Amino acid sequence: MKHLKELPAGPKMPALGSLTRRVNQRLDMWGALRRNRHRASDASAGFAWDAVHYNRIALINRAVAEFGPGNVRYLEIGCQNNLCFDAIIATDKTGVDPASGGTHRMTSDTFFAQNRETFDIIFIDGLHAYEQVQRDVINALACLRVGGLVFCHDLLPNNWIEEMPPALGGWLCGDGWKVVHELNASSGLTHCVVRTDHGVGVIRKDVDRPAYVKLNAELGSLGFDDYVARLKAVNIVSHDQYLALFFPGARGGPHARA
Ligand SMILES: C[S@@+](CC[C@H](N)C(=O)[O-])C[C@H]1O[C@@H](n2cnc3c(N)ncnc32)[C@H](O)[C@@H]1O
Repeated sequence: MKHLKELPAGPKMPALGSLTRRVNQRLDMWGALRRNRHRASDASAGFAWDAVHYNRIALINRAVAEFGPGNVRYLEIGCQNNLCFDAIIATDKTGVDPASGGTHRMTSDTFFAQNRETFDIIFIDGLHAYEQVQRDVINALACLRVGGLVFCHDLLPNNWIEEMPPALGGWLCGDGWKVVHELNASSGLTHCVVRTDHGVGVIRKDVDRPAYVKLNAELGSLGFDDYVARLKAVNIVSHDQYLALFFPGARGGPHARA
């Protein structure tokens, strides 16, 4: 698809550069949809996200509050404009993104290869492609303290467009959902997906060396219809079930029945 020539932003029209960039992004999206129309599906996972009034930030901050904000070493993979990163109430925060936000300008693979720190809470929200999410989860678990939590965004796409992996032009949830089925086959971990904000996975490291099971040959080529068919195998929980699972005894609060 042909792109608009990116115009330099001048003093009279400062928004021109970002406008042409946004138009070109839309053209890329339409091109990706046309190229992948053979994957199109009428199916819907049917999650009504607008009706759930708490999000990934509320879930992570609840965990930070339970651990104690001053005790938490927090790592976020994929920070973008720091919407989440700046809202997290932990005092010790590391953010990794090759493009913008956070504290480290690099990919997650580069960060984990050089990292020697351990963390208490890690939020994975970088490149939304199965094998990258899989690597991020495995690398995160390796530097998480026992009892710590990994959160993972966008595990419940609603339709085939949201599920399309970035390599095919996808820009929303992608196919990170596949790691949930690997977690089901793994041991030494407790996990669920909270029914909010496009699906927020939560994984607790229960032992020093959890056994993570990779299922690339089985899952690699699956698409949206396969995801819907496998949804009943996903432990999808409400906010109060999330609290009961990871913080038994904690008070529910306003989202208790959501
Ligand atoms: C969905 S945004 C993150 C949003 C943010 N976590 C929030 O909740 O507001 C995804 C970000 O991941 C970054 N990203 C892409 N590839 C990455 C990689 N390999 N490692 C780390 N971050 C990556 C992108 O630059 C983008 O800023």
